[in-house]
Amino acid sequence: TWTMVNIVEETVEAVRARVGDKRVICALSGGVDSAVAAALVQRAVGDQLTCVYVDHGLMREGESEQVERDYVAATGVDLHVVDAADRFLTQLKGVEDPEEKRKIIGHEFIRVFEQAARDIVAKAGADGVESVEFLVQGTLYPDVVESGGGEGTANIKSHHNVGGLPDDLQFTLVEPLRTLFKDEVRAVGEQLGLPPEMVWRHPFPGPGLAIRIVGAVDAERLAILRRADAIARAELTAAGLDRDVWQFPVVLLADVRSVGVQGDGRTYGHPIVLRPVSSEDAMTADWSRLPYDVVERISTRITNEVREVNRVVLDVTSKPPGTIEWE
Ligand code: XMP
Repeated sequence: TWTMVNIVEETVEAVRARVGDKRVICALSGGVDSAVAAALVQRAVGDQLTCVYVDHGLMREGESEQVERDYVAATGVDLHVVDAADRFLTQLKGVEDPEEKRKIIGHEFIRVFEQAARDIVAKAGADGVESVEFLVQGTLYPDVVESGGGEGTANIKSHHNVGGLPDDLQFTLVEPLRTLFKDEVRAVGEQLGLPPEMVWRHPFPGPGLAIRIVGAVDAERLAILRRADAIARAELTAAGLDRDVWQFPVVLLADVRSVGVQGDGRTYGHPIVLRPVSSEDAMTADWSRLPYDVVERISTRITNEVREVNRVVLDVTSKPPGTIEWE
């Protein structure tokens, strides 16, 4: 629409004026905010922007490809991918406590991003650019209001809410979404031609699938959950219900087993929990009354297609007392 074209043009102009000929970096998470923020900055300053995508190996099926292939195709952005899956898995080995998982992932993320930022700064230096001055953040208007906030120089405020970059890696923030609400961010994303799966993605936690495996995280468990989650999301989409549901966590109870029967044989497999919720802001939530035929299709497909799972259960708890995520 005309207004969206205006918002895009004005924001691009403002970013161009602010950044000048300096270098900019941005961490992409796979989520809509960082994707739209980076795309706006790319429009404004092109190759002066380098994006970093830390693949922690805890994403859902297809999400890394969305960033590495589709997003790059749509924006032409210069993307630096760090495949850190082994690192994260090694650090997470045997860890069952949810807060411990979050701490490890947040800490590791900062370390990996910091190294990537140093590499980019060094490369810019080799090109004769003395420093990378700006860091893009996908801060939205509600975040600005909440923090009472002025704009400024800051260390990284990661979406994991942990830690920061060391003093010698300080950046000035560029926050092109500071005046926008979420629905406007999505409209801008569409206007910029970003992949619809990214523009309309449900909120997904920074620690990824690690906090949707109740129990320790390993590659095999991740693979099981990833397959079950992909089925649940595909059926929700096929039923045309994506926009009726706020978020649809799919959870693997990795330490629980139950007896089942399949064909002639007894099985002893894991339960998968479906946790579709409706919400306005994630502070409170209600369990979504998905049509039973959709629930049935998801259940049938998961138990047929994911050998390790022999039971699918539906979480019918509101928040409070339940949280949206299980961990
Ligand atoms: P809960 O489970 O507390 O979740 O009801 C509220 C919202 O926050 C998301 N969430 C997280 N996001 N890092 C994130 O970036 C986290 O550690 C984290 N934990 C929960 C959750 O998906 C929901 O949207």
